[in-house]
Amino acid sequence: MVVERVFDVVADAAPEIRAGLPERRAKAASENVTGDEQLEADVWADDLLRDRFAAVDGVNWYASEEREDAETVGDAADGYAVAVDPLDGSSNVKSNNPCGTVVGVYEDPLPASGRSLVAAGFVLYGPITTMTVAHDGDVTEYLVDDDGRTDLGPVELPGDPLVYGFGGRVPDWTPAFESFVREVEDELKLRYGGAMIADVNQVLTYGGVFGYPGLESRPEGKLRAHFESMPMAFVVETAGGASSDGAQSLLDCSPDSLHERTPTFVGSESVIADLEAALPD
Ligand code: AHG
Ligand code: MN
Ligand code: MN
Ligand code: MN
Repeated sequence: MVVERVFDVVADAAPEIRAGLPERRAKAASENVTGDEQLEADVWADDLLRDRFAAVDGVNWYASEEREDAETVGDAADGYAVAVDPLDGSSNVKSNNPCGTVVGVYEDPLPASGRSLVAAGFVLYGPITTMTVAHDGDVTEYLVDDDGRTDLGPVELPGDPLVYGFGGRVPDWTPAFESFVREVEDELKLRYGGAMIADVNQVLTYGGVFGYPGLESRPEGKLRAHFESMPMAFVVETAGGASSDGAQSLLDCSPDSLHERTPTFVGSESVIADLEAALPD
């Protein structure tokens, strides 16, 4: 029941967040814990979601990319921790490209393992606003608007991979990763838009792989385990795909701290298996 209420909150907040973006495209003159420049929209969406989730019985902790510590917002027996990337791909707001919201529901206080996720989902602010939720072994996509949500049916990752997209500057990739990419690009079509949500949704739609690798200059990569990598891995694995940090499923990761980053790969099982074989142990 708590999970249902959490995603009712997300479906309710999504049209409001979308409608609030045009007037909040300016920089907020602040940085978050992982060093991102914040937009007014990042800070505003974070505060909005914090208040909405705090009102849900059974949500004991709220944590987000935009705030340093997890905040205690409830005291239910067996309460959940909700971890949020309020606006994913917020640098896309300036150029009017897609962005999203990511939500992970963990059954333990954070930091927690990916295995602590009981549900995860995301909103994609694209030509239409959709919410995709993974829970109880199924992934469902909904159309979301001011009137509520409409079930668009189950999401299953297609069998044949078609698209790929990888983050980071190519000269900063490791040689092993670069040779893996050279093989992938022989077979698949490049799609990279700079918002993980939108890029992963293409993989969910067409099959393929999205990744943000460990870089020479930053071996842990860019994406944050609790707020981005593990929730999206939960969605992709539940839809029949696979995930990896380069060596193991992202759901087997156990971050030591709230804002820890991890190399992140999600997509078709065959491509993730090839990736793990290509990277050194
Ligand atoms: P956020 O906007 O939440 O900080 O996340 C940005 C992330 C992710 O969405 C995307 O895949 C990646 O950063 C893009 O990074 P590059 O600009 O380095 O490609
Ligand atoms: Mn950010
Ligand atoms: Mn993000
Ligand atoms: Mn963000």
